[in-house]
This record gives sequence, C-alpha cells and structure tokens, in this order.
Amino acid sequence: MNEQIATSLAMALNHQLTGTEIELLLEKPKHVAVGDVALPCFQLAKKLGKSPQTIAADIKKNLQCDMIQSVDIVGGYVNLFFNQAIITQQVLTKIVQEQQLYGTHVANKGNVVFDFSSPNIAKPFSMGHLRSTVIGNALANLAEKNGYHAIRINHLGDWGTQFGKLIVAYKRWGQQQTIAAAPIEELLKIYVKFHEEAEQDATLIEEARAAFKALEDKDEEALALWQWFREVSLTEFKALYQLLGIHFDTYDGEAFYNDKMQTVVDELQDKGLLTLSDGAYVVELENMPPCIIKKTDGATLYATRDLAAAFYRIKHYQPEKIFYVVGHEQSLHFQQLFHVVEKMGYDWAQNLRHVAFGMMLKDGKKMSTRKGKIVLLDDVLTEAIETAKQNIESKNPHLQNKEEVAKQVGVGAVIFNDLKNDRLHNIDFSIEQMLQFEGETGPYIQYTFARTQSILAKVNVQVDETLLPLGDQAWQVIILLEQFPRVVSSAYEQADPSLVAKFALQLARNFNKYYANNKILVNDAMQNSRITLCHCVAIVLKESLALLGMSAPANM
Ligand code: ARG
Repeated sequence: MNEQIATSLAMALNHQLTGTEIELLLEKPKHVAVGDVALPCFQLAKKLGKSPQTIAADIKKNLQCDMIQSVDIVGGYVNLFFNQAIITQQVLTKIVQEQQLYGTHVANKGNVVFDFSSPNIAKPFSMGHLRSTVIGNALANLAEKNGYHAIRINHLGDWGTQFGKLIVAYKRWGQQQTIAAAPIEELLKIYVKFHEEAEQDATLIEEARAAFKALEDKDEEALALWQWFREVSLTEFKALYQLLGIHFDTYDGEAFYNDKMQTVVDELQDKGLLTLSDGAYVVELENMPPCIIKKTDGATLYATRDLAAAFYRIKHYQPEKIFYVVGHEQSLHFQQLFHVVEKMGYDWAQNLRHVAFGMMLKDGKKMSTRKGKIVLLDDVLTEAIETAKQNIESKNPHLQNKEEVAKQVGVGAVIFNDLKNDRLHNIDFSIEQMLQFEGETGPYIQYTFARTQSILAKVNVQVDETLLPLGDQAWQVIILLEQFPRVVSSAYEQADPSLVAKFALQLARNFNKYYANNKILVNDAMQNSRITLCHCVAIVLKESLALLGMSAPANM
C-alpha cells in the first residue's frame, strides 16, 4: 500500500523523486488523529529548491490517488488520510482469498540453516536451552514464511572429556535400570558424584582421561556406553520437543564432526594460521583472544567442531545464512569462530550470524545452577499446564478435550512469555502471570482467537459482497491487518520474533476494543462486513501464533 501511495506522490511531484525514494521517507504519525501516513517535506526542500511548505502545497494540489481520502498540511508535513472504504475492501478481500498464506512471500529463496536448542547429552535441559529452542523455532518459521527453506539443526553437545568422566562414574556407581527409568536425572547424579569423589581421589581424573581416550580410539565398550547415554538422553529431549511441537531435520551434534575436523585443521596449517601458544595450537585474532584449535596432546575442542560444522553445512546445504541461536555468554566463541573463517579467506564468513539472547530470571535472579539447584523445563511445563487446567476448571468447566487445551494454553503461555520480549533482554519468569487471560500473555491472544471462533461458528462469510467501512475502531484493526506482511519480513530481517508477538498483542487488543463496542451478529447491511473482519482477524491471529510456535484452540 505504501508503495502505491509513494508512486502517486512521486507523480504529484512531477517525478523529481522516484517512488522508492519517497517510500523510504514515509512516516507513521504518532497519533492516529493526525493522519494514517505522513510525508515530511523538509528533506525534499534542498533537492527541489523549494520551501517545505510550497512542496506540501504542490502535493496537495496535484495528488491523485484513490487510496487517499484527504490531505492535510501541518508545518512541512503532508498528512494523508486513507480512503477507508477502498482499503477495507482491498485488505479484507486479500486475506479472505489467501487465508493462512496471507503475508507469505512466495519465492524460492534457497536454504537457511538454524542451529538451535542444542542441549548437552546427560545434562538437564536448561532454561537457556528453552530460550534457544523457542527463538530458533520461531525464526525458522519466519524464514519459511519469507520464502526460504529452513534447515533445523540440533547441534547436540554429545562429545567432550565429560564423557570420559561419565563412563568411569557409570562403571563405578551406575545401574542400568535406574538410568533407564530416569536417564538424565541419574546420569547427572553419578556425574556430580564423580566430581565429589575426585576431590579425594585424584586417580579418578586419570581414569576418566584414559576412558575418553578409549572413546576417541573407538574402543567398543566405551563407544557402546556413549551411544547408550546419547540415546536415552535424546529420548527424553524428544519428548520435550513433542510437547513443544518442534521438530529438527537432524540431531547431528558435535560427535558427528569427529572425522571432519582434520581437513580443516590441515587447511589452517597450510595457510599458516596455526601457531603454538601455551601448549596448544591456536589461531591468533585481532582484538580478541586467540581461538584454540588443538591441544598438543591432539585433543580437539568445542570451537574445532564448530569450525568443521560450519564448513560441512556450507558445502552440504549451500545456505544463504547460518543462524546460531545461542545465549549471550557464548558471544566471544562465535566472534572467534567467524573471525577464523574470515582469516581463512572465505566470503561466506559474513553469512554466519550469532543470534544471542539474555537470561531467564526468577524474581530478578538467575535461575539455573544455584548450588546445583536447576530449574527443569519439564517441571516448568508441567506446572504451566497444571495451572492452565485449573483456570479452565474454574472458567469453563464444561469444555471438551480439557487436557489437550490445557496443554496448548500452558505451553503457549511459556513460549509467548519468552518471545514477547526483545530477545537480548533478560526475561522474568512467573507462571502465575504468564497464564493470565488479561495483559501481555499468550492466553490473552489465544482467548481472543477463541472468541472469533465462537462468533464465526454461527455464520458464514459471504465472499463476493462489497465490504463497507466499519468506523474508527474497526479501522484500527484493519490498518494492523494491512501491516502483517511487513511485520513478517521485518521480524525475519531483524531476527526478532518479538515483532510478531507484539503485533499479535496489538491486533488482539484492537479487535477486543472493537468487539466490546460493536455487536457483530445483527442482521443489517453491514453484518457481512463485520463477519469478514472477524474472520480476517482470526486468520491473522492464528498465523501469528503459528509463527511463534503456538497453537490456537477454537475453544478455551
Ligand atoms: N551445546 C551447547 C551448550 O549447551 C550449545 C551449542 C550451540 N551450537 C553450536 N554450534 N555451538 O552450551
């Protein structure tokens, strides 16, 4: 719409500027009463050799655009008021035609890789991993909506010296059956015990080193144990992903790159980038600590595996970008990684992007690992679902499929609470609050959607009728609907799902305001327009929720 208006404005100025140039200047006035869109003429004065006031007057005189109802000049601003009848008709018709494809940029833009979630085997799934999971999933959804093919990679932390410790711990204190019953909990227990015992008995550390060496040398027993730890942990993680409604294209994690590192290390060597420093081979970097590639005993590191992973993904998927959705505390690691690729002379270094995020706080404090007390995601989700169920029992006790809805609402509340925030901010966590039906919550939006469904269940949308303007409050809904495609592209470009979350909140609010003052089902000339509006709000709300990774129950 802005594009069409900008073209008309360019025409009114005798094409002294292009439509694209003008489109970039268009602003949204702070108050809706001032206008729907504004062109500040100050920036044009120099170029056109006229005062802003004269330019504004020229535009007012010459503008011909059927999307504009009226033009107002205030200072050097041209304030434009949309033609509500025409835009209402255009926007709503488009949404009815395109349904959930509204806002989709249909194009074949190639692959984009998302490295996200990526928990560590035999360790609890932390709140940090939850953030990575929901942010990464929303970004992958947004990439798809923007015409890319998203590849979802779970870069499992399934290799490293800790597995030597775990093997030793298991051989001493582990029991197959207890571990099989609650794998991560039990594996964590024996891992913690290993560290306690090792304080008294230093030989344990030696043993663990030998066990990891055996693992690296593909010793059958060590390998079988490692495989088993990995498998049982993954089964647990997959149950969480199922609850969250998230899938991955691959779970190839760090171990997958064991046999793919040598070529990269060789290349670093050939290019003269490896230097020996403090008992390790490193790549020296400007303005940051060196990146450690290999210890002198031959052991490789997290960074080495990430380096091999980057090369593998570039070759295998030819992505236009790789996003690493990982907490802020790993920023230095990714800067180093990208810098090493750059020093190797590869342009694609600039296509690697670390999408960082802040911490999850409870009562203003960090949640995890306080004295070994870890907040388990599993418990959080269970509690959220339980609270959602109690809410249903008190508000809507006759609801069918309560269990399913409680799950959608509880999980949705947790996801939304995360995604509504600018991802770099630390976020506060209160199950009570995130489940409120009012305020900035997932349930508020889901509830608004359910409202539309109960209205629409009683009627049908007549598709071919002319749609009539419905007044100011409806107009505030329609201009939001019109913006949705742009929200979809900005959220992806800025790697910021909160733009979608905030948009959905605003849409729900504006619709509720309209609905509070207008009866939809009244048999008059405007009924079909009101129903169509309601139908379009439902489509866009549901699609917004889907992008965030949330369900939209029809009843709640
Ligand atoms: N497993 C790591 C952790 O829990 C996250 C891995 C992120 N992805 C990557 N390619 N390094 O801290």
